[in-house]
Formats: sequence, C-alpha cells, structure tokens
Amino acid sequence: MNILGIETSCDETALAIYSEENGLVANSVHSQVDLFKEYGGVVPEIAARDHSLKIIPLLENLLNESGEKLKNIDFISYTAGPGLIGSLLIGDTVAKTLSKLLDVDLIPINHLEGHILAPCMEYSELKPPYICLLVSGGHTQIIVCESFGTYKVIGETIDDACGEAFDKVGKLLGLEYPGGPKVSKLAENGDSKRFNFPRALKSEDNLDFSFSGLKTSVLYQLEELQVSDYPDVAASFQEAVIDILAFKLFKASKQTGIKKIICSGGVAANKNLRQVLKQIADEEGIEVFYPKFEYCTDNAAMIAYAGFIRKKYNLSIEKNIFPRPRWAVEEI
Ligand code: KG4
Ligand code: ZN
Repeated sequence: MNILGIETSCDETALAIYSEENGLVANSVHSQVDLFKEYGGVVPEIAARDHSLKIIPLLENLLNESGEKLKNIDFISYTAGPGLIGSLLIGDTVAKTLSKLLDVDLIPINHLEGHILAPCMEYSELKPPYICLLVSGGHTQIIVCESFGTYKVIGETIDDACGEAFDKVGKLLGLEYPGGPKVSKLAENGDSKRFNFPRALKSEDNLDFSFSGLKTSVLYQLEELQVSDYPDVAASFQEAVIDILAFKLFKASKQTGIKKIICSGGVAANKNLRQVLKQIADEEGIEVFYPKFEYCTDNAAMIAYAGFIRKKYNLSIEKNIFPRPRWAVEEI
C-alpha cells in the first residue's frame, strides 16, 4: 500500500509518500516562513496563493527526486482541517483532482491526528494508550490517545497557544517571525533564574494552560531593561513555559495512570523542553517519545502515515467532505 500525503493547513506546502513495505519513501516541504517575516505572522490570503503556486512544482520534484510514480499510489491522504480555509482548499482541490485522475480513494485527515501519530512512524513499539502533549503555533493540548483513532482532550490552553506565546515574545524581543526557534537560541546565553515569570493555573485543579499573562508580564519587564538583558528574559520565559508544560503533563500521567508520553507539534522541536521532559520521565519511570525534528513542525509525512494507520486499523474514513477550519480531535 502506497499513500500520498498532502498538507496545506497553514504555511507549509508539504507532500510525502508512505509505503507499507518501505516506510517513508518521499518527503518534501516548502515553508512560507520567509514570506511572512515582514508581517510578523501568517497572512491567510498570501498563504493560500503561495500554496497554489508551489504545490504542483513540489509534486513534480517529489516524484523526480524519489523516483516514485503516481500510478503506484493507492490512496491519497490529505489534511482536511483544522487550519486556514484558503490554505486547506488548495490541498483539498489537488487531493480531489488527483483522486479522480488516478482513480484512488481519498483519506481526509485531521491535522492534529497527524501530530499525535507522528512519533509512531519511527518507533514501531509505540502503541496506544499514550498521552500526547501537542504544542504548536495554534494548539496546546494534552490528549489521551486511547487507541488509534480515539482521542480525548484532557487539558488545553484557555487563551494563547504556547507556540504563539513564543512568537509574541520573540516579537517583543525584536526577533523575526517565527520567534520560537530564535527565542530558544537567544536563551542559550541567558540566566533562566533571573526573572520569575508566572506559571499560570499551576495550583488549579485542572490540566489547562494560560499563556497570555506570561506574555504581558514579559512586556512589562522589558520596559525596565536593556537589550543586553534580553537573553535572560528569553531564558526565564522559556523556563516558565517548559515548567508549566512539564508540570501539567506529568500530572496528567499520574491522573490517568498512563506511563507513555509523546510530545509533538512545532514547539516539540525545543531542545530544552525535550531535555526537561526526558529527565523527569526517567526519574518517574515514564517513557517519552518525540518525532524527529523535521516531523515536529508541519509536514506531509505524518499525514500520509495517519492515512496508513486509518487503513491498517480499519478506522472510519469520511467521504466527500468540505475542508473544516475548525475540527476538534474528539470529533474524528
Ligand atoms: O506545528 P507547527 O509547525 O505549526 C502549527 O501547526 O502551528 O508549529 C509552529 C510553532 C511556531 O509557533 C514556532 O515558533 C514554534 O512552533 N517553534 C518553536 C521551536 N521551533 C518551532 N518554539 C519553541 N522552540 C523551538 N525550537
Ligand atoms: Zn501543526
């Protein structure tokens, strides 16, 4: 079984081919990040136009470089939501057109399911039940993967996503969009104990997060500081985020009794977050898994793989759906 994956939910145009026999045999991502530097964030209409321009050349490249042939594709798995409607519509149109031309079935995929399953691509021993900390530019959720295809959100942000907080703090520190990787780089030379930024909702009896106050407190702190203090701000901010993420994640593990954890989404590329989770997990006898760095941020490998899992385990596959800008992971 060979599955073509298509991802266009936000600002990455991505294509991949996952084969049942050989695993991931082709993978290509075009990031629009350079387009949005001057705007400090994604502009939906520009994102949609760029997907439209890049997706067919990207497909040609994918096939040329991998030597794979469209005639050998058995299914097309594509992101049907959640995401920006204009961006989703490009992937939807390409997927539906190819499915007609090649006479193969479509597998619409929830983008979040892609992130939740991404580490399983690499670790064949990783099977549900496990807990997923999904941390990206649009989402911060603690999700129980009860079985493949069954997901339950047990905690989430009540305001900003944590990637969004990294990006906003990056902007305050004069860093280019997306701020996450740059804040983390700046933090390498900073003192993470200098500022005690708030850990919101830490003492609340729930698994929810809030990051908007953290950003405001960084803003107020900066008013009294010089640029030479910025590495300390970045390091203290990063530590506050990691501290609260780790606290709620391991609390979720205690509450559910599930001792297998994965961390996925763009912020899972953060090295400090990985180190801290690994260290606590080792101390508490919990296994923790991450996707490779390139499969943390948006990609089509995880979308092709999610399609493979849905076929392999005979999970429901919806027919003829319109792209869904909002689509909770519990509604899959
Ligand atoms: O999963 P993703 O590629 O796109 C969404 O679906 O949102 O995540 C992008 C987010 C951005 O907010 C970016 O700043 C953040 O992930 N990010 C990081 C790091 N690398 C990417 N945040 C913190 N540290 C990083 N190393
Ligand atoms: Zn994503």
